[in-house]
Amino acid sequence: MVRASNEAVIKVRDLVVGFGDAKVLDGLSVDVFRGEILGFVGASGAGKSVLLRTIIGLLPRRSGTIEVFGLDRNATSEAEREGMERRWGVLFQQGALFSSLTVRQNVQFPMREYLKLSSRLIDEIALAKLEMVGLSPDVGDKYPAELSGGMTKRVALARALALDPEIVFLDEPTSGLDPIGAGEFDDLIRTLQRTLGLTVFMVTHDLDSLHTVCDRIAVMADGKVITAGPIPAMLASEHPWVKAYFRGKRSRVAAATAAQNIG
Ligand SMILES: Nc1ncnc2c1ncn2[C@@H]1O[C@H](COP(=O)(O)OP(=O)(O)OP(=O)(O)O)[C@@H](O)[C@H]1O
Ligand SMILES: [Mg+2]
Repeated sequence: MVRASNEAVIKVRDLVVGFGDAKVLDGLSVDVFRGEILGFVGASGAGKSVLLRTIIGLLPRRSGTIEVFGLDRNATSEAEREGMERRWGVLFQQGALFSSLTVRQNVQFPMREYLKLSSRLIDEIALAKLEMVGLSPDVGDKYPAELSGGMTKRVALARALALDPEIVFLDEPTSGLDPIGAGEFDDLIRTLQRTLGLTVFMVTHDLDSLHTVCDRIAVMADGKVITAGPIPAMLASEHPWVKAYFRGKRSRVAAATAAQNIG
């Protein structure tokens, strides 16, 4: 796959983030290029969600720089920061939707917060976003508790797309879905990325997603991105964690070998 651009829409340098005495991120640097889908992997607790939350400004950093669209939020005005935030959408790992709001109201939420549009227009846009993620209009009247896991993810994606973002942050978008549902969600992300020209920051444990959706993969360990590159580079890596993950017992390589042995 060809990288869409050399422009780093997200540029992180020497980032340090910690809680109490513990440093979770310790000198992390990474670039996310415009138009690419960059997958972040790493052991549970490696700091993937912390990195995502720090980039979007929900967690403070101890040191280092983070530029999104060429701006560092620590050196911007309130208005500039709001301008940045309107240009991205987020699908969080947990608590994806507001349980007291209908699906439609959930999708409309960012629009009501940031855009001054008539209710009618906001209604129409919300329906269009639901359609974009493959949901029928009647889903709009349901409450989150009435949705399946896959539908919940789609609604959360629709909400992340509400403001026509340039970047979407996805934290484990396919976790909890069955393999077919996960595959469909991967296709959806790929299609949206292609048609909308999105840049996608995706945290995932899903090896299928990594193989089929991501242009590049960034591996996190020891508070850093220890290596980043496309799948062939991951398969060639001799780093013990990378090797275990991509060529270990549960990897695709192992599955393919097992299938050959059966056949
Ligand atoms: N708000 C917080 N306060 C204190 N510690 C935190 C906070 N958020 C995260 N941590 C800690 O930071 C570390 C990294 O957490 P993080 O959620 O980023 O892991 P992760 O890589 O996303 O893991 P997983 O794959 O399980 O989602 C963990 O040790 C976690 O306990
Ligand atoms: Mg996480």
